[in-house]
Amino acid sequence: MTQNAECPQNGRLEDTYKRHINYLRISITDRCNLKCIYCTPKGRIQKLPHSDILRYEEITRIATIGAKLGITKVRITGGEPFVRKGCVSFLEKMVGIQGIEDISVTTNGIVLEKHLEHLHDIGIKRLNISLDTLDSEKYARITGQRGFDRVWSAIVAALKKGFSPIKINVVALKGINDNELKNLAALTLDYPFHVRFIEQMPYFGPGLVENKTPLTETDIRSIIAPLGDLLHCTESRRRGPATRYRIKGAPGEIGFISPVSHHFCRWCNRLRLSADGWLRSCLLSDIVTDIKTPLRNDATDAELAREIIAAVEKKPLEKSEAGQNARCGSRMFAIGG
Ligand code: 5AD
Repeated sequence: MTQNAECPQNGRLEDTYKRHINYLRISITDRCNLKCIYCTPKGRIQKLPHSDILRYEEITRIATIGAKLGITKVRITGGEPFVRKGCVSFLEKMVGIQGIEDISVTTNGIVLEKHLEHLHDIGIKRLNISLDTLDSEKYARITGQRGFDRVWSAIVAALKKGFSPIKINVVALKGINDNELKNLAALTLDYPFHVRFIEQMPYFGPGLVENKTPLTETDIRSIIAPLGDLLHCTESRRRGPATRYRIKGAPGEIGFISPVSHHFCRWCNRLRLSADGWLRSCLLSDIVTDIKTPLRNDATDAELAREIIAAVEKKPLEKSEAGQNARCGSRMFAIGG
């Protein structure tokens, strides 16, 4: 790519610590149709006014400029992305952006199944589906909704349609799903799913009951140990925050995302765009860059590119540098992980 005003970094975005930032996570809504206990604050949730939420054209414009700067991977999150009207048509536009090689969606799966055909047609292949239990009663307790059957049905349908990889996000919840982690890991013996165990992050938002002693990766490993040794999937160990393994002979993979016990800041390649137009370079920091104001004040593409670069330049080296307690004052449910 030639150097020009819109692409002052020659197609490679680097932060001040030489990390290569090529991954943009975009939250398209703060609304969600579930109220998961680890994600939703207690009491009334202040929803963003519609006028504050970026229009789809605004998001695709930022993504197009990001792609020129070197963003190649995009993940769409929420809230729950599929509760926003027109989500699939928006995804179709995103797929068409030159330079973006990989688009995936994080969803709770509740209204996913009816969209699968269309998603498949437009070329979305990768799905991350949140599912913390295989017990429908417990599902209702964790999420506030009797939705287990719908989510499982969507997962099976996605598999039949050929989506790959299908990642299943499991937040390890002490005293709630610890007795099921082995069964969840065992899914990888029967299906090509990537089951990813996530340490519960105690940081987010006011009103949340903090779990002071969350299950760590070590705890989770010993719970699932009876299934057999975990072999490293060496092909792409460093592609994201998850460390990836396979039980010998299994079609699926097991991953650990361990924000509490292990820092993966050194390899962090991410930038986030919130539904209301803030760029956030670290999940655990409230250092943000307002891109909505210039966007809505006729900024040129080159000016918006400079905002993106400025956001990347503010990326802290480590979560401990991000703020006093590395707490994210913003709301996890609106950031989408
Ligand atoms: N700790 C860990 N992961 C969380 N998520 C949401 N809240 C938390 C938390 N407190 C993640 C879950 C979910 C995704 C959307 O965000 O993995 O699947």
